[in-house]
Amino acid sequence: MSKGRKNAKHDYLLKLLLIGDSSVGKSCLLLRYSDGNFTSSYITTIGIDFKIKNITQAGHKLKLQIWDTAGQERFRTITSAYYRGAMGIFLVYDVTDETSFTSVQNWMKQIDENAEKQVVRVLIGNKCDMPTRTVDYARGKKFADDNGMAFFETSAKEDICVNEAFAHMAESIVNKLKSDPDAFAGSNPKTQSAKKLRGASSDGAGGSGSAGGKACC
Ligand code: GTP
Repeated sequence: MSKGRKNAKHDYLLKLLLIGDSSVGKSCLLLRYSDGNFTSSYITTIGIDFKIKNITQAGHKLKLQIWDTAGQERFRTITSAYYRGAMGIFLVYDVTDETSFTSVQNWMKQIDENAEKQVVRVLIGNKCDMPTRTVDYARGKKFADDNGMAFFETSAKEDICVNEAFAHMAESIVNKLKSDPDAFAGSNPKTQSAKKLRGASSDGAGGSGSAGGKACC
């Protein structure tokens, strides 16, 4: 086995993006998923941030590079530049905030204009722990079904369904890459790294479990 293969730490590099209105909980979802933490204080994201998480799923070592975008309009030019390299995009709304749900339609438009056609979309209704919800499950599900997306209601606070949403996203992307290794290579050469590193050894880093968490809402 070549040195390069021996040193390979993952089978697939997956580039994910979180988008949605300001304050819907994108940063908290990422914090919950990557670090297992939650904070109730709100510090708005400036521009863009990212975290890396290594997991093992269905025998594949996956390196997830997860980009957390600012929901505020004034950062739109910066954040939209990151759509191009994304393989998976989470569209997040807040189940207690009707406007954030209405906005999903606009976020879809942003994806259509800026992301690759193959990008996997997953709709997330966050803050399902809150008793003051205004968007019920059926509306989120219908919107997702109508647009060919998977749908999860999550709570970053109570750790509900967060792992499931990320696991589903990872599985969908890996399945695409298995059937077409060039699926996301289109307009961004950086995404070439998504191709499976053939013969990668088993010395991958991290490896947090992909399953677990509490039952979905
Ligand atoms: P921007 O960076 O401005 O785009 O916001 P964001 O979407 O990243 O929101 P953020 O994660 O910063 O969360 C906003 C507020 O919602 C914070 O006060 C969080 O504590 C709260 N929050 C996030 N997720 C949940 C959740 O699942 N349940 C509850 N109850 N509150 C949450």
